Amino acid sequence: MCGIVGYVGEKQAAPLIIEALKKLEYRGYDSSGISVLNSEGIFTAKKKGRIQELESMLDYSKIEGTLGIAHTRWATHGIPDEINAHPHLDCSGKIAIVHNGIIENYASLKEVLISEGHRIVSQTDSEIIAHLIEKFQKQGNPLEHSVKKALSLVEGTFGLAVLGTDKFGGPRIIAAKKGASLIIGIGNNEIILASDATAIINHTRKVIYLNDDEVAVLSKDGCFITKINGERVKNQIQEIKWSLEEIEKKNFKHFMLKEIMEQPEAVQNALRGRINGAVPKLSLKIDVNKTKRIILTACGTSWHSALIGKYLIEKIAQIPVEADYASEFRYRDPLISETDLVMAISQSGETADTLAALRQAKSKNAQTAGIVNVVGSTIAREVDSGIFLHAGPEIGVASTKAFTTQVVALALFALFLRHEKGIKDSPELMRELSMIPSKIKEFLTSAEGQIGGIAKEFYSSKNFLYLGRGVNFPVALEGALKLKEISYIHAEGYPAAEMKHGPIALVDDEMPVVFVATQSASTFDKITSNMQEIKARGGRIITITDEENSSIKSLSNFLVLVPKTIEELSPIINVLPLQLLAYKIADLKGLSIDKPRNLAKSVTVE
Ligand code: AGP
Ligand code: GLU
Repeated sequence: MCGIVGYVGEKQAAPLIIEALKKLEYRGYDSSGISVLNSEGIFTAKKKGRIQELESMLDYSKIEGTLGIAHTRWATHGIPDEINAHPHLDCSGKIAIVHNGIIENYASLKEVLISEGHRIVSQTDSEIIAHLIEKFQKQGNPLEHSVKKALSLVEGTFGLAVLGTDKFGGPRIIAAKKGASLIIGIGNNEIILASDATAIINHTRKVIYLNDDEVAVLSKDGCFITKINGERVKNQIQEIKWSLEEIEKKNFKHFMLKEIMEQPEAVQNALRGRINGAVPKLSLKIDVNKTKRIILTACGTSWHSALIGKYLIEKIAQIPVEADYASEFRYRDPLISETDLVMAISQSGETADTLAALRQAKSKNAQTAGIVNVVGSTIAREVDSGIFLHAGPEIGVASTKAFTTQVVALALFALFLRHEKGIKDSPELMRELSMIPSKIKEFLTSAEGQIGGIAKEFYSSKNFLYLGRGVNFPVALEGALKLKEISYIHAEGYPAAEMKHGPIALVDDEMPVVFVATQSASTFDKITSNMQEIKARGGRIITITDEENSSIKSLSNFLVLVPKTIEELSPIINVLPLQLLAYKIADLKGLSIDKPRNLAKSVTVE
């Protein structure tokens, strides 16, 4: 899933692209590399590990050149080491490429290239692209055509930047995209190419979102885009609205903490302009009367939101809903027809499995919709219509504000469907929704100390159980996922009543058990019985609740009070202490919270 940067302009490329690349480190960080082109040829440096390690071995005064590309890698093919790090060069060293994605037929292409005498040095799928381009350039084709010819042979996905010299047009970068994001920033006498706008915004706000099968030639003469088949494409320049401040860490120790703390504003932004009396204002192109079933498809945290969405839509709009892992849905050959609405939920809008599920649904003529945070992302562009989260960039690998804003978007969506179906509107729900940002704020401004104390008590535990029921069962799943991904503590989320069918065997006096037990829950009494069952086996109970009554107090070793809201919206509030608990535990353990091991922010490989 890697991050790509490219620069063509008047400034020295190396320091500029390294700075830009750092903004993309969340996409992958096992190795990185840079290539800069000048009159003497291409200078390349690569290093295993974080970008900082690459940077510390570079002497910018010796790397002259105003054209360059760089890459931060999340390996798919070949171990993370210096040889497999990008950029990759052709045999002559005159072409350098950086690639994001997977070339599925690389093995057969590699065999042919080796039999033709090419020296392929890495284990990656990506390197063969450099050699294919070399082959076609040697046959007398201009660089751009050589790239197009190479791409017509590869199967798979790519965000690609090729650095080289065209014998007619001179030095240039050729960028191409299929299934991986690539954005071209148009500045004053300079062009910055990147996988994501965060790397561009320091230089310009004018951008072109490259579409699949498009190839851009970037040189001192500007940016020219055509399709791989040669058709000319008009440059559609758009303006980025996110502020730089929004994507920086401010005074927070980690992006994750910043993103937890900015949830009141994020949720407010998700609601902004959408509350209109009892009916949400959404511009969705959905034929609700035709819709017999809704399928919500997503991965990870976004899938937890989908589970909540099922509960909300079925209850509020009375339409049957399935919540499906995108990775399972896409390979099941699901029975879908035009009476289905398939909604993809994704923070990044680039998750490969979610995108594939969406395309599968489209191919079967279902209506499609999206709930996405990143404007201009592939999923956002491919759905018939959708709801943007407006949560601002989420940099921490562990998703926080995307989750709460997704639940808000799903609540709005359920209310929209209810209205379209002609069911009596629900002004109470809308009213409660509009009060959610201040309730989040109320909790977050006072919670850090208490949750920090609980974290101190449990940070050396080896296992955790998270239990919840109904709409708060997915919250238990989400709490467990947060803890696993950043603290590396094994945690399981379970429906509280299901626990006695197995997991209760794990409970002893070493086991912390987190109960999500707010009073608004229709199953509140039942969940207190589940707490009794844990207590009887010596488990140590941390309870998230909204009323300090004596029975729940006597059952709990630790009790976290959250503001009251209605059951439907309680996941938005109840997840907050769980996010903070995971954060505080990981911080006490001194771990790499924003970039946990083995993970990357957007999973653009299958
Ligand atoms: C969340 O904390 C995870 N890092 C991960 O599960 C994430 O939610 C998942 O990869 C889906 O990403 P998306 O929302 O960008 O599609
Ligand atoms: N397949 C390439 C590699 O392993 C790029 C990986 C990616 O985009 O995640 O280097």
